[in-house]
Amino acid sequence: MGSTYTSRKNSKLLSPIRLGQMNLGHRVIMSAMTRLRCPGSVPKPIVTEYYTQRASKGGLLVTEGMHPSFMVEDTMMHLACLHRKKVTDAVHAKGAFMACQLWHVGRCAVSVSLGGRQPLSSSATNLGYHNRNTPGGVAVPHEIAKAMTLQDIQDTIDDHVHAAKCAIEAGFDCVEIASGNGYLLDQFLNSNTNLRTDNYGGNKENRARFTLEILDAVIAAVGASRVALRTSPWGTVWLPLDPDPIANWRYLLSEIEKRGIAYVCLTQPRADLLLEEKTKIDNIFTAIKEGKVAATVEDLHLRHFEEVLKTTPVLANGNYDSENCFDEVEKSEVDAIVFGRYFISNPDLVEKLRLGKKLTKWNNATVYITSVANEIEGYTDYPFGEVEEEITVV
Ligand SMILES: Cc1cc2nc3c(=O)[nH]c(=O)nc-3n(C[C@H](O)[C@H](O)[C@H](O)COP(=O)(O)O)c2cc1C
Repeated sequence: MGSTYTSRKNSKLLSPIRLGQMNLGHRVIMSAMTRLRCPGSVPKPIVTEYYTQRASKGGLLVTEGMHPSFMVEDTMMHLACLHRKKVTDAVHAKGAFMACQLWHVGRCAVSVSLGGRQPLSSSATNLGYHNRNTPGGVAVPHEIAKAMTLQDIQDTIDDHVHAAKCAIEAGFDCVEIASGNGYLLDQFLNSNTNLRTDNYGGNKENRARFTLEILDAVIAAVGASRVALRTSPWGTVWLPLDPDPIANWRYLLSEIEKRGIAYVCLTQPRADLLLEEKTKIDNIFTAIKEGKVAATVEDLHLRHFEEVLKTTPVLANGNYDSENCFDEVEKSEVDAIVFGRYFISNPDLVEKLRLGKKLTKWNNATVYITSVANEIEGYTDYPFGEVEEEITVV
């Protein structure tokens, strides 16, 4: 006997929405995910197949993070983008849209991946872990970052502009500026990592300055309707929770609201790529109890930020599944849902949600490339349609 499904085709999640220049057919968006198949930022041929599998009519796919500054000696943004034209063409041919994430990792990089240069950050801090995303895949300890000079800041703004222009030339519909998850711009926003005493440090206005200057420069280059931003007010990935996330991010987002960009993607407080949901929430509760965060346990949501974004479309990400993805859009609390890992393991995610079919769970062991010889496993080999047995989760 066949399975019975509850079709969700009439839900608002599966209805059209306009984001900047993009007229989407539904609101199920694929999140930026670095999958390590783009050495030197140049995508391997398999990358086209991966995105094409996940492209749906009127859908939006966000690419893995692309480094706007020259992260590897020989990498040229133009070259990288030129190769990406094949990807954007293939995705467009299926009626989908594509955003390119510009992602400067700051102190999360190591000098061996930067042609020997010291990683940059707001201040001279050390992330204090190991980085395995190195030439040869050898784990290398993080170093003390270089506190960026004003020239470094200007150069990085220019790099974002150059990268954005290249991305639009390569056929991307939009660029998404990564300003969350503990990466460079978050290292400026968060007062644990920003120890500066100049115009880019101290109060919230100064800490937000770098993100807003990048945004303004990129908007001037490619137009506000082709620019988006991702940020994580409750973020604890690669840095401690900011002591005053509500006030700081309300300020940032109220400034962004004035700029009329295509969308803002916000990460849910429950989500942390490195932690289970319960651990993440418990950690924030503990920080609140210890008086380290200006918030109460009732504050743990995104509404503080959504209410500031009155006209800017708000996308929410983090631990959404086939059950919890409908309600907030239905109630117009957010405009769309951004899926990460379920898009890895369900190339036909949109269709499954539409038909109410069971989702395939992803395999953590293969979210990153397992060996150079095997770039397919966990990348383009997930099945379409429903599978009876879940893929083994490690
Ligand atoms: C393999 C992998 C790579 C990721 N790379 C990026 C990235 O390059 N840029 C980014 O902003 N987020 C990145 N993320 C975070 C995802 O975009 C997303 O926020 C996270 O997976 C939580 O969403 P989910 O619960 O739907 O998976 C990555 C996540 C995974 C699993």
